[in-house]
Amino acid sequence: MENTIYKAKQFDLSGLKGISDKTLEMHFKLYEGYVKATNDLHARIGEILADGKVDQEEMPAYSELTRRLGFEYNGMVLHEYYFGNMKQNGGGDPSACFRAAVERSFPSFDIWRTDFVSVGKMRGVGWAIAYLDPAHGRVSNHWIELHQNGNVAGFVPLLVMDVWEHAYLLDYKPADRPKYIEAFLANVDWAAVERRLA
Ligand SMILES: [Fe+2]
Repeated sequence: MENTIYKAKQFDLSGLKGISDKTLEMHFKLYEGYVKATNDLHARIGEILADGKVDQEEMPAYSELTRRLGFEYNGMVLHEYYFGNMKQNGGGDPSACFRAAVERSFPSFDIWRTDFVSVGKMRGVGWAIAYLDPAHGRVSNHWIELHQNGNVAGFVPLLVMDVWEHAYLLDYKPADRPKYIEAFLANVDWAAVERRLA
């Protein structure tokens, strides 16, 4: 099995508002770690499968590697969505399409925003994600524990916000997560969100 399936993507995000370049550089390194771990897991699972069977004595290692795929894969993919929905000079008003989708699903855009921000403030290690249900066109906000717990199968991530402490600890105190959340929203690339919606 090929050793390198995924390559870390590059994101040009220097000069964001309220999220320092130092934070981003550290965060890109963490992301690259998820890409490497995903590739390594595929290689190691491939080695076990190479003789065409999973022996009884291989089963514990095989199981552990396979369970870790969910963590590492989602860690890789969610960071790509996260970096991909910020840009220099971002923020401002969302596109009309996103606003319309949100207003079909919530009483108002402001209530959607309150919900999204509040999910981001939840205690724990994880993510706040606004997802599109492609079958019904509804938008809903979800708390994702770690990287893998709570993602809804088949839903499309529209707006992805990392609220692990590493996302803001160099810039804000742990108790100041709300300030980081406002900084994140001030950098959103709404055009990228709209492309996901389409
Ligand atoms: Fe992160």
